[in-house]
Amino acid sequence: MKLITYAKKVGPVKADVFFYPVLQNDQEILKLIKSFAYADQDIILTRLKRENFHGKKGQFFLIHSEDVAMVILGTGQKNKMEVEDWREAAGKLVYYLEKYSANNIGIVLNSWLKGNNDIYRLGVSMAEGISLASYRFDKYIKDDEDDIKIDIDKFIVYLTASQKVKFKKGWDQGLLMAMGTMKARDLVNEPAGIMTPGFLAKEALQIAKNNRQVTVKILEKADVKKLKMGAFMGVDQGSEEPLKFIHLVYKPNGKAKDRVAIVGKGITFDSGGLNIKVGDGMEQMKVDMSGAASVLGVFSAINGLAPKVEVHGIIAACENMPSGKSYKPGDVLTNMQGKTIEIGNTDAEGRVTLADSLAYAQSQGIKKIIDLATLTGACMVALGPEYAGLFSNDDNFAKTLLKHSNVVGEKLWHMPLAKEYVSFNKSKVADVRNIADTRYGGAITAGLFLQKFIEDDVIWSHWDIAGPAFAEKPFNSYTPVGGVGFGVRTLFTWLLDY
Ligand code: BES
Ligand code: ZN
Ligand code: ZN
Repeated sequence: MKLITYAKKVGPVKADVFFYPVLQNDQEILKLIKSFAYADQDIILTRLKRENFHGKKGQFFLIHSEDVAMVILGTGQKNKMEVEDWREAAGKLVYYLEKYSANNIGIVLNSWLKGNNDIYRLGVSMAEGISLASYRFDKYIKDDEDDIKIDIDKFIVYLTASQKVKFKKGWDQGLLMAMGTMKARDLVNEPAGIMTPGFLAKEALQIAKNNRQVTVKILEKADVKKLKMGAFMGVDQGSEEPLKFIHLVYKPNGKAKDRVAIVGKGITFDSGGLNIKVGDGMEQMKVDMSGAASVLGVFSAINGLAPKVEVHGIIAACENMPSGKSYKPGDVLTNMQGKTIEIGNTDAEGRVTLADSLAYAQSQGIKKIIDLATLTGACMVALGPEYAGLFSNDDNFAKTLLKHSNVVGEKLWHMPLAKEYVSFNKSKVADVRNIADTRYGGAITAGLFLQKFIEDDVIWSHWDIAGPAFAEKPFNSYTPVGGVGFGVRTLFTWLLDY
């Protein structure tokens, strides 16, 4: 998709669809329609009235001529416009392109530019919305006649010279963030029969090949054994697929401003293990590597975005399967820090593998860690399908992350690491138990379990993404059914803020 900018409203390039976002202002709308100077203007104005179009948020008004469609999109009142509205509108635009099988868009932003001075963010959001809304995972559909595929080749925007610089910078970054997100979506959507730990490792190797400043180390079972990752190995032991421990490193040009780790839960299939899940609950469990997918998504676009921080991506990838070799309820596992874990339920496996991933991140001397994990159904009960739970041992860190998530429209909600509940994870035979003694507050007790493995001087945030990792129904115009790639854009926005 090529970005073409023009300083004047009418440029030499013609678009198939012109898109006019307008504020909720009848005078302005009238002026706009008159500016088209159509011969049948009166009919259009009558229709405008009849359709009750006032530019309210989400309202559309269509005008066709022989060779061009005009889509006038209401964006509501100036002071109520949010960044999310731009992304949502850009996503809807794709819907109209599909409708008209068009691949050139012209967009006239005058009205929006009046209500905002953050042209950079407008560029980011337009790129995010358009790219993400065009995403499809259809490689296994060979004969879908209804599916219209569009390939947008020109995106034409009318901007002044100084606006253009800011918009273009945002646009380029938005495209890269969307690319990383779509990489993560692809990985989540891939069935577990293909998406094995070995497949994830190959993806990581490919990413390192494509990104000059990224290196990767893949640890095999023997390496993991040497590091004494007894927790990770315990979860893996029932599976026929060889485990992989993936460690990616991005080093910026020049001196790094910080060293951080992003850790992803990488269970490529969660059957529950010996505490096997029932049919309904198991069907979707290819999603259980979504945290890992988002980590890889970030690394896939990290060179282009070039944050000024050293970033470590850490994934303990394995399956959770029942077999004669599986770990069992009642087992006691020892992680690489020497902490012991009593297994109360083999289906609470994510936190067990994370005990070793988090330990490994800290063994690298890293003092700032975010983990992303499809950890608990309880978090979905608490927050529903679209919100992830954010936990942190540092309130300022939580605030920073929430601020960035808010900008990109990824919904994270601050949850407590309630001290009062620490004792719920107590074990009679080990340092900690992998399930609590009550099902209430399950997302919190899972977070508290993880905190057991975080040293006092480490700033850490845990994101329980069980809900928003996968969209059963579309979340919005740019998040279709399937893997969401949740977290990639928040992570990037945070990393770019250094
Ligand atoms: N992978 C699941 C959590 C999950 C559920 C992710 C739904 C995405 C959608 C996790 O490993 C799990 O099974 N958790 C158990 C924990 C319980 C045994 C304490 C759960 O949530 O039921
Ligand atoms: Zn599980
Ligand atoms: Zn799981």
